[in-house]
Amino acid sequence: MAHHSWAEPYKIKMVELIKMTSREEREKAIREAGYNTFLLRSEDVYIDLLTDSGVGAMSDQQWAGMMLGDEAYAGSRNFYHLRDTVEEYYSYRYTVPTHQGRGAENILSQILIEPGDFVPGNMYFTTTRLHQELAGATFVDVIIDEAHDPVSEHPFKGNVDFAKLDALVERVGAGHIPYVCIATCVNMAGGQPISLENLRRLRKWCDQHDIMLVHDMTRVAENAYFIQQREHGQQDRSIREIVHEICSLTDAATMSSKKDAMVNIGGFLAMNDPGFYEKACALVVVYEGLHTYGGMAGRDMEALAIGITESVQDDHIRARVGQVEYLGQKLIAGGVPVVQPIGGHAVFLDARRILPHIPQEQFPAQALAAALYEESGVRSMERGVVSAGRDAATGENHMPKLELVRLTIPRRVYTQAHMDVTAEAVFSVMEKAEAIQGLRFTYEPEMLRFFQARFEPVA
Ligand code: F0G
Repeated sequence: MAHHSWAEPYKIKMVELIKMTSREEREKAIREAGYNTFLLRSEDVYIDLLTDSGVGAMSDQQWAGMMLGDEAYAGSRNFYHLRDTVEEYYSYRYTVPTHQGRGAENILSQILIEPGDFVPGNMYFTTTRLHQELAGATFVDVIIDEAHDPVSEHPFKGNVDFAKLDALVERVGAGHIPYVCIATCVNMAGGQPISLENLRRLRKWCDQHDIMLVHDMTRVAENAYFIQQREHGQQDRSIREIVHEICSLTDAATMSSKKDAMVNIGGFLAMNDPGFYEKACALVVVYEGLHTYGGMAGRDMEALAIGITESVQDDHIRARVGQVEYLGQKLIAGGVPVVQPIGGHAVFLDARRILPHIPQEQFPAQALAAALYEESGVRSMERGVVSAGRDAATGENHMPKLELVRLTIPRRVYTQAHMDVTAEAVFSVMEKAEAIQGLRFTYEPEMLRFFQARFEPVA
C-alpha cells in the first residue's frame, strides 16, 4: 500500500512573531532564572516546548465562539453547551467546570478520599498525587514495569499490572482503596497509551472489588489514536468512537482542557453518579465558583465545547501525533537517546544516557534542559528527580528510573521547520554534553518544587 504523508488539516490565518536571542543574553537569562526553565521570561525563549498546556492555537471557530460568551453569573448558555458536548463526546452525564485540571483533582480527592486510603494509578502525575496526599491518601504506582524502562518498545506502556493491583488489595483491603486513577496517554511515562483491552479488564476488576474507576482524561484523544493505530481490531474505528468507549468504561473524570481540547485555560470534573455530582457542586462553590462556571468565563466554556469537537477529528490527531513522531524519529536517526516508542504529546530525552557523568542527586535532566536553552533558545522541561519531589512520609527524594527532559509540542502552533531546528539544537548540545555540570538547590519549595526551585552549578 502506498504511504500517505500527513499534513496539517488547517492553514494559518494569523501569526505571532518570535525572535532569537544571543548566547550572552541566554546565559544571563538562565542564570537569573536559577537554571529553572519555568522561571525564564517567555520573551527570552525562541521555540517554546516547555509544555503543551494552554499553549495550543485556537481555531477561527473557537475564536468566533469567544464572541458568544454569555457572562451571566448563573446558568450561562455556554455551560449547557459544554455539558451537552461532554456528554455527547465523552459520555459523562454531569459536568462541573473548574479553572483547570488541578481544580478538579482537588474536589475529586476531597470527596472520595478518607485519611489512610491508598490510590493506585498508572504512574504518578505531580498535581494529581499531591491532591491525593493532601486529602490523606498514599499514591501506589501500578503501571507495568516496561513504563519505567525508556528503551522498552512495548506498544502500551500505560497499561496497568493486575498483579500489582491484586497485591495492593491483599495488603490494605479493597475498603481502603476509594478509586483507581487511570490516565490516558500517561504523561510522566513519556506520553504512553493504555490499551482498550487493559482498560476493559480494569473495568471488570473494579466492579469485582466494588472500587470506582476515575479517568485523568487530559490526553484521551491522543491515547485513542494509538489504540486505532496499534490495537488489534481497532483500525476501522474513528477516534471519536474510541474516545467515547474509553470514557464510558470509567465512572468519573478529571480534565485539564488546556491540552487535548485546545483552550488556553479551563478544565472540569465529570461523572455519572448523581450523589457524587451533588457533593462536587457543594465543593466547587467553595474553591472555584458557582457550578455553572467553576472559575471559567462563559466565552472560555464556549471555546472549550468547540475545541472538544475538533480534538477528536481523525485528521487533526494524525497530524498532531505525526508532528511529535517526526521530531522523535529525527532525533533517533541522529543517535539521541529518547524514550521509545515516541509518545503522543512530547519527545522525552533520556538524560541518564546523555549525561552519564552527572549523578541523579545532581539533577541531570534539570541541567540538560538549562543547557539546551543556553545553546539554542529552545525551552524544555525537566521530568525526573526534581519533578518527582520528596516522599511525603520519609522526606527522602523520590528517585525515579526515568530521568527525562521533555520537548513538549503545543498543538497547531509550530511547523515542521521548527522541529528541524529543535533537532539540530539537541544535536549541538549532545556534542558538548561532557562539559555540562550538575546542579544543586539554592531554593527548594516544599510542594511541587519543580515549578519554582532555583539551582546553581555544582562546581
Ligand atoms: N493531569 C495530567 C496528566 C497533566 O498533564 C496535567 C497538567 C494535569 C493533570 C493538571 O492540569 O495543569 O490544568 O491543572 N500538565 C501540565 C504539563 C502542567 O505541562 O504536563 P492543570
